[in-house]
Amino acid sequence: MGDMSKIRNIVILTGAGVSAESGIDTFRGANDGRGGLWEEHRVEDVATPEAYAADPGLVLRFYDMRRASIQTKQPNAAHLALARLEAEWAGSGRGAILIVTQNVDDLHERGGAKRVLHMHGEHLSAWCGACDGRMEWTGPLIDRPPCPLCGARALRPDIVWFGEMPYRMEEIYAALREADLFVSIGTSGAVYPAAGFVRHAREMGARTLELNLEASQGSAWFHESRLGAATELVPEWVEEVLAGDEAGG
Ligand code: APR
Repeated sequence: MGDMSKIRNIVILTGAGVSAESGIDTFRGANDGRGGLWEEHRVEDVATPEAYAADPGLVLRFYDMRRASIQTKQPNAAHLALARLEAEWAGSGRGAILIVTQNVDDLHERGGAKRVLHMHGEHLSAWCGACDGRMEWTGPLIDRPPCPLCGARALRPDIVWFGEMPYRMEEIYAALREADLFVSIGTSGAVYPAAGFVRHAREMGARTLELNLEASQGSAWFHESRLGAATELVPEWVEEVLAGDEAGG
């Protein structure tokens, strides 16, 4: 990355590829596990407000299955390495680390990361359409349980569907403006606005690095792309950064 000693603030964007080796299917790419389909439905056709309005039972069942499934998965070496980087970087006082994830699983947190922005929401959170409250939720929603805050039977998955506004965008753009290094891990670069973060960070002066199994749609925007499995590339890169190597990005 050139001179690691100039790196203070790091923003790390993660996508489905970081959780793939924990056994969670990605959406796109060589190993999406099911050709982008769920019970013959394209995931894009289930993960929309229109689908929820037309057939809420179908959409709730889909998310109930996914919410149950992620709770049986474990963080992998990539999640653990990022948590270690966060802890050691913060401990060294050099600068800020922010993990921005498109993932709706909680594997970064269970891997030990403390500061994770879930821009596409979280499986383990429910959102009440009546009182607008959000709460931790681990069970099913298909039976329309009452909201613990207001009693209305109006809970939906706290997931950002296609066509909805991602969360925490102001904070994310503020961090990108301050970033000296932007690293994208395990994302296909197919879904905006996350796919545009690399350009934004680069225009604001950040060094940019991609770690992904295959070339992504945004590969050309990165100063450097390394291809391989997240459980190998991420721990290697974290070692380099913490050792202050020239190759750290
Ligand atoms: N290590 C590293 N990268 C991997 C691995 C792995 N073990 N396995 C797969 N990948 C890569 C794939 O090659 C692909 O480029 O991870 C990327 C996953 O891409 P997507 O499935 O498109 O996931 P993501 O980029 O997170 O999707 C963005 O799309 O459907 C929406 O809201 C959903 O947050 C999601 C968004």
